[in-house]
Parts: sequence; structure tokens; C-alpha cells
Amino acid sequence: MIYPDELKLKQNLITDTHAHYDDKRFDGIRDELLLSLHENGVDRIITCAVDGASAKGALALADKYSFIYAAVGIHPENLESKTSTEEIRALAAHGKCVAIGEIGLDYYYSSDNKEEQKKVFEEQVVLANELSLPVIVHDREAHADTLEIIKKYRPKGVLHCFSGSPEMAAEAVKAGMYIGVGGVVTFKNAKKMPDVIKAVPKERLLLETDCPYLAPEPYRGALCHSGYITLTAKKVAEILTESTEEVLKLTSENAQNLFTF
Ligand code: NI
Repeated sequence: MIYPDELKLKQNLITDTHAHYDDKRFDGIRDELLLSLHENGVDRIITCAVDGASAKGALALADKYSFIYAAVGIHPENLESKTSTEEIRALAAHGKCVAIGEIGLDYYYSSDNKEEQKKVFEEQVVLANELSLPVIVHDREAHADTLEIIKKYRPKGVLHCFSGSPEMAAEAVKAGMYIGVGGVVTFKNAKKMPDVIKAVPKERLLLETDCPYLAPEPYRGALCHSGYITLTAKKVAEILTESTEEVLKLTSENAQNLFTF
């Protein structure tokens, strides 16, 4: 079963601002899944690249489906792909490229190449500013350096799958960023997330999956897809004492304000 019945919505309300549909784990079910998602409430998806090859994959999906948009960029875990920022510039000229991403810093994955990670991240932030595109930022165990670069260049964009403190979220919002909330918010150990969500103005919250990874509870560990955003929205709605539909609608509008669909 690809799409659980209980998640079906009456109208298209979901914007998944962070997915990886070129991932191999979707091979064999990709087309059926994407069409089923769109029929069941998923209005728009941004599929994010991690290097040059996956950027081409993301753009091919955006060409194939009206409801899919692409972000192109070099992920900090993919520096060995040797994709250049100039290649990303050329790929970003595509009409359905709505952001530079996924870019950022990951000191959990590697702390031996911090300077190289920072250099590639900065180059891509500068590129995004030149092209007037938002950035989709990955920050894992690199909060201080990520915030420093954001404050220095002041791009428009989102800190995806936010894992910092409420104070950091407030500072990032002040610098112009949106805060991306994914399935992690439903995990028992995500103790800071309710305070993070309350510290962020509602108009700066975005929902995302990071699928095929990070499926929300009760599907944790399963293959994740954009339909599961309803479970993330339900948790955010509980925290904000709103309805799930209101949270889906609000976050879709926020996505529309940040990205040019
Ligand atoms: Ni991602």
C-alpha cells in the first residue's frame, strides 16, 4: 500500500518543501507513488538535489510532473562528487528550479573538512543571492557556523529539518530565514521542537518530509513520502492549538511566499 486511506484529504493542501524523489529507494514505485500523492492532497513538492547528477534527476522529475519543482545544489556530504558551483549555476537556469539546495554544513558526517564545507556552502549562498533564489540549508551539528554564514550573506531561504534551539530559530528568523519542520517533530526524543515551533512566527514555518528518510511516527523507519506530512502537521497543530487543515493551509501559503512556483 502506497498511500494509507486515513491520510486522504478532500482538497490539495500539502506542500512538501523538501523531498528527494530521485533517490534509488523510489525506483520501481516512483511514478505510481507521485501520481497517487497528487491525487490524494499533495499540491506541490520541491525535490532537492545533493550533487550535479541528482540535480539532473530532480529537474527531469520537474519536467515530467506539473506539481514537482526542483532545488539544485551540492550537499555537504557530496563534495566528492566534484560538482562545481558553475555547474549548479547552469542547472539553476531551468524554469522549474525554485531554490539552491540542498546546501549547508554537516560536522556530524565529517569534521575533517570544515573549511572545504564552508567554502562550498558560501559559494552557493552567493550564487543564490546573485540569481535571487532562496536557499535550502542543511545544518547538522554546525549551528554556529551556519548562522554566521546566514548572517553574513542574508539569503532568503529555509533551515531545513531544523535541529537547533528556540533561541537559534528566533535568530535565524530575524536574519530572514524560514524554519523547516519535518517528521522528527513526532519523535519522542524531539524535546526542543515544541518550544522551537512556538518561538517562530507562524508565517515563517514550513513543512517538509526529507523523504525517503525520516518518516514520522507511527511510520518511523519506513519509506517516507510526502503524504506523511499530514502526521507532521497534526503534531504541529497540537503544539499551536490549531487544526491540522489550518496548519497545512498556512504552511502552503508560507511556501508560496518563499518560493516562486
Ligand atoms: Ni534532504
